Order: sequence, then C-alpha cells, then structure tokens
Amino acid sequence: QQLAIGSAHSKLILVGEHAVVYGEPAIALPFPSIHVKSIVQPNEGPVLLESSFYVGPLNSIPEKLKGIATCIKQTCKKLNREPNGFRMHIKSTIPIGRGLGSSAAIATAVVRSLYHFFNEPLSKDDLLELVHMAETYAHGSPSGIDMEAVTSDAPIWFEKDKRSKKVDIKQAFHIVVADTGRIGDTHAAVSSIKEKYKSITDQTKYSIKSLGHLTKEAKRALKDGDLDALGDILNRAQDELVHLGVSDAGIDYLVKVARQAGALGAKLTGGGRGGCIIALAKHAVHAKKLAERFLHAGADQTWHFQIGSDENQY
Ligand code: PMV
Repeated sequence: QQLAIGSAHSKLILVGEHAVVYGEPAIALPFPSIHVKSIVQPNEGPVLLESSFYVGPLNSIPEKLKGIATCIKQTCKKLNREPNGFRMHIKSTIPIGRGLGSSAAIATAVVRSLYHFFNEPLSKDDLLELVHMAETYAHGSPSGIDMEAVTSDAPIWFEKDKRSKKVDIKQAFHIVVADTGRIGDTHAAVSSIKEKYKSITDQTKYSIKSLGHLTKEAKRALKDGDLDALGDILNRAQDELVHLGVSDAGIDYLVKVARQAGALGAKLTGGGRGGCIIALAKHAVHAKKLAERFLHAGADQTWHFQIGSDENQY
C-alpha cells in the first residue's frame, strides 16, 4: 500500500436552488477553479487527520466536523476494512459555507482516496450513497444536487430523487463568481423557507414554481445558445430568491454592481444569506472586468471561467 489521492471540484448552482428541495428542477455547473484533494498514506495505529480545519486523531474530531468522520468510517465499513492504519491529509481551496459545495467535495475526495488506497473499484452509486451520508450530517436533508454536481464534469439538470442528466450547451459562456466573504447558513435558509411554505403564503409557493419554470427556460436558452435570454433568467431567478428571503444586503449589493457593470444577469448561488453570487459576462474580457469591479466593490475573492467551450473544457 502506498500513497493514494482522491479529488473533487467545486460546484455552482446556475438556477433552481431552494426550489429543488420542493421537487423543482435545477441546473448546476462544475466549478473546476477550486477543488479538494485527499491524500491517504499508510500509518500505524488509529486514523490521523490533517487539514486546515482540524489536525489530530479521527476519534477526537470536533462535533461540527463529524460529517467527515462519518464519511471515513462508513467508507471503511463498506470496504470491510478497519478504520485504522492510515493517515489522511485533506487540502481544499474551496471556502466553506459559501454555497460552493465544499462539504460534498470533501466527502467525494475522501471516498475516492480511500477506495484508491484499498485498491477497490468505486461505482458512482456507492460514491453517491457514501457522500449522501456525509451531506445529511452537514445539511440536514439535502436535495442531493451538490454531490451530483461535484461528481460531474459537465453541467447537469437535477431533480430530487432522480439521477442527474447532462445539459446541452450550444455556446460557451463566461461566469464570474464573487464571494461576499460571509459564511452562509444553508441549513437555516432551507428551514426558513420550509416555515414559510407551511404557513399561508401563496407568494412562497409561487416563487418556488417560478424558479422551476425559470430552470426550464434556462435549459432552452443553453440549448439555443441565447445568452441574453439566460442573463434575463438569472435576474428573474434572483428576484424570486429575494422574495423567498434568502438574499441579503451584501448579495444585493454585488448583484447591483454586476448589473451596473453590464453583466447579462446576476444572482446568488447556493443557499444564500452570505456566500457567493454568479454573474453572466458578455465575453472573456468582460468577465475579467467584472471580476475587477467586484473586488473594487469589496468582494472577498472572485473567479471567472468558461463553461461549455468548443474544446469542452469545463
Ligand atoms: O450547499 P449550498 O449552499 O450550495 O445549497 C444547496 C442548494 C439548496 O437548494 C439551497 C439546498 C439543497 O439541498 O438543495
């Protein structure tokens, strides 16, 4: 046995977050600029974990990181191995709590590295089952979109309890991500909508349905290569997310900056209430300009990348 590596990239939700919890479709994108690597090496005795958030034996891991411990133990159980005899180093460039899928990416990298270390083939079903367990720890009852997106190399169409499908993209587009720098709380945002949904508000149900329609329109716009239509859809989705109460002043401000700087559309991505926004740029040079504007406006960090190019470089 020697060194084994497993990795996973980040993800972005293009449209449909929150509504996806209620059975509406959503579209997610792989976000390869940031990722997680898990490196496993033989080591006598109990499992040792090394990461930026915790260094020490697996059994003394703090409560809020229990998802990772569960993931390691469940993976070993599935492989009929004892959870000892190795050390694991987790390196991540995905900021946590920003709607960028860090927990799903960490779990994916961990499972992949352990299967690799024990020299076992890993099926997609087993991967998703193990990551789902870790995600349930981190999020309560996740729709499953994060784990499907961090394990896909292409944009996906996702509906709860169904396997994701690839989305057709006629024309490459440029996405800029801006981080408010504040940790969002997806669990709290999902719960607040659940509360509203139970009460009378037709507005909440209407917004969720509208987000579902917007996702369908986005699929068509991507297929037709109509980026103006896609931008408009992103803006309308942001309006619905504002109605649902999951945006906040920091997000609203960056969305406004994006629109003033000529973005075709902009919205929050992921759970909201902190976290990141995405903006659709007109072209590569515009994407760079938008990223500069975001930094100037106080964004913590930005990234820009191209999706669905001719070379299929996601
Ligand atoms: O993990 P986040 O913050 O990207 O949120 C995932 C998307 C939600 O729709 C808000 C929740 C879910 O489980 O689908």
